[in-house]
Amino acid sequence: MSVFKIYPDSSVLAQTAVQAICDSAACAISERGVFHFVLSGGSTPKAVYSLLAQDLYRSNIDWSNVHLWWGDERSVPPNHPDSNYLMVRDSLIQYVNIPAEHIHRIQAELNPAQAAQLYESELEKVFQSETLPCFDLILLGLGEDGHTASLFPGTSALYEHQRWVIENYIEKLDVWRITLTLPLLNCAKQMMVLVNGKNKAQIVKHVLQGDPSLATYPIQLIQPVQGQLIWLLDSDAANQIQLERQSALPDQTYS
Ligand code: 6PG
Repeated sequence: MSVFKIYPDSSVLAQTAVQAICDSAACAISERGVFHFVLSGGSTPKAVYSLLAQDLYRSNIDWSNVHLWWGDERSVPPNHPDSNYLMVRDSLIQYVNIPAEHIHRIQAELNPAQAAQLYESELEKVFQSETLPCFDLILLGLGEDGHTASLFPGTSALYEHQRWVIENYIEKLDVWRITLTLPLLNCAKQMMVLVNGKNKAQIVKHVLQGDPSLATYPIQLIQPVQGQLIWLLDSDAANQIQLERQSALPDQTYS
């Protein structure tokens, strides 16, 4: 089931996302003693991490039972300005008391294929299982081309249905990335897509109300098998959605 929520601005969106993270963490830790949380790169999630790091919110989470994972990583060292790990370290990790062994960084300084293989091995070790692990919460962003994580249009990672983590060459950027694959992403109990800004309005319209025969965007392949998919959009990103055509947005709620 997908839920669409539209907020007046990015600040309210971030506050709502942070509250949802705190609620998801409390529920997971209460039920299973652990919260496996997958982080996204990008500027939108970064604002959420910075807010979550504030005492008002971080004090709501028992960080000793939280495991942080990354949905994707750029193929750069952890001290590179493009590193998603670095972004999360500086906006969140340095402010919370989380055990170092619960921070599962993608070793993107290595060869991309090796980094992907090592991350998959870490997942198997931590989840103590060779069956698909189901994360408690996955944050995702949305690129203007419809990419999410590092699943870019026309790239080979979109067609990977066996591996959990894969190296992915993004030809248009001429870069390598490491990304979780669709089977692993779609096993999550809860997924939250965070989208704000006028620059995302067109892709949001194409993805949510476009002609499905024209194109399938990677974000449209995010279809949790049993979990819940929640879209949090600000009004700028949603300003091309025709709200009167509410039938085009299944299960939507607006607040
Ligand atoms: C990354 C993210 C990527 C991001 C989108 C949206 O590594 O950059 O995984 O998928 O979420 O590009 O980024 P913004 O929120 O900055 O627009």
